[in-house]
This record gives sequence, structure tokens and C-alpha cells, in this order.
Amino acid sequence: MAVRTPFLAGNWKMNLDHLQAVAFVQKLNWSLKDASHENGTVEVGIFPPFTDLRSVQTLIDADRIAFSLGAQDVSVHDRGAYTGEVSGEFLAKLRVTYVIVGHSERREYHHESDDIVAEKVRAALRHGLVPVVCVGETAEDLEEFGASAVPVAQLEKALAGVPADADIVVAYEPVWAIGSGQAATPDQAQEVCAKLREVVAATMGEDAAARTRILYGGSVKSGNIASYMREPDVDGALVGGASIVVDEFSAIIRYQKHVGV
Ligand code: 13P
Repeated sequence: MAVRTPFLAGNWKMNLDHLQAVAFVQKLNWSLKDASHENGTVEVGIFPPFTDLRSVQTLIDADRIAFSLGAQDVSVHDRGAYTGEVSGEFLAKLRVTYVIVGHSERREYHHESDDIVAEKVRAALRHGLVPVVCVGETAEDLEEFGASAVPVAQLEKALAGVPADADIVVAYEPVWAIGSGQAATPDQAQEVCAKLREVVAATMGEDAAARTRILYGGSVKSGNIASYMREPDVDGALVGGASIVVDEFSAIIRYQKHVGV
């Protein structure tokens, strides 16, 4: 079975300007060093706003900070007359590794359909970026269809035609758990993440399913991260609010030290 390196990813959403971003990344790095965190036991991902990417990339390169860089969205287009859009080509030039695709806030506020999300997955892959494909059900979906039906259908559409050797990450983010303080239980997260792994197996094959990391997101905090990480099909977390608080995100990254909590 493939070894999946745990991935703790911080989606800053529209928080922290580029000056705050630099200060934050330095503090987070010091906090981990102070706590004698061993780099390499987990992967740390930082997903700041577009305007911060260049500053954060310069800092992590110069100081050799072991954080991966991600963007929060990507255009379906490569270049041209698309005012306000950001091309995957430009992100790749900035040595951005990951890009979040299909976050529920984009689906809801920017009317991103499953088709657009699928196109964005392709755009990311075309430029050598790893898409972090977000899926999740609303509270109404949960009541009507149960937890897994909607995220499974969303992932099937997002991954249709994606080659078996593509590098992707999947994030299960129940919409009702995002920013609500009402996190899914580890059992709920495990159940849906296992179903999502079956979708990866069915669309991209067993090897891809064994190596693809599936994250849980929604009100993840330092106090509950360890309980998710014990689940066999949860390979990390996509963290929102707690990822812009240095001590919180630092403790989330060091969850292996408090697994017994
Ligand atoms: P919170 O951790 O603030 O609930 O946000 C989760 C999320 O949307 C990460 O993408």
C-alpha cells in the first residue's frame, strides 16, 4: 500500500495581506522550530490570497522553509481577455504547487458548476499544478440524500477523464461544517472519505486511489485534528479559520505529538 504523507493545508481565504503573510509564515516557522517539529513527518501547505503568493514564495525559497505553496483558485483559461482571472501558467511560474478547485465558497458565491470545476481540474493539471478538489454536501443535501451522495457525485464529475497518473488531492468539506464550529465527527469524515477513495479508484484506478490524499475540512482545530488523523482514509486537513492563527495551526501541524489527546 502506498504511503500517503499527511497533508495539513491552510486555506487563508481572503485574509492577511502580503505584509501580514510574510510575518505569519515567519512566525509559524519559528513556532515549529521552537517546538522541535521534525520537517518531513507531514507536509504543510499554505494557500494565501493571490496578492501574497510572490512574497510568500520568495520568503520560503530564501529561508528554505519547508512549506508547500498553493493558490485558492485558477482560471479555466490559459491567457487572454479574461479580466480578473489568474492563469495556471502564471501560478506555475511562481512555483506554486497546489491549487484549490471547487471550494464551496466558489461554488456558492461564484456559481461554479461541476462542469466549471472539472475544467479547472484540467487547467491545473495542464500546467503541472496539483488540484485540491473540494467536494461536500450542504445541510439540506445531508437531510435529503445523506452525507456521501452529493460529494461522490461532485467528485465523479470533477475527475471524469483525468488520467490515472495525475497527481491530485481531494478535500471533503461538508458545507455545514465550514466556519460553523460544528465539525463532522471522525466517523462521518471517515465514511465519506472512504467513499471518495472508491470514486478515485473507479475513475483513475487502484494505484491512484492508494496514493491520493483525501483531506477533511470544516471547523478543524488543534483540539480535534488528532481524532481525524486516526481514521484510515483521512490523510490530512484543509483548515480555514484555525490556519491563520499561528499557535493553532502550529499545533495542528504537530498533531502527532498529541495523538492521545
Ligand atoms: P474552517 O476551518 O474555518 O471551518 O474552514 C474550512 C474551509 O473551508 C477550508 O477550506
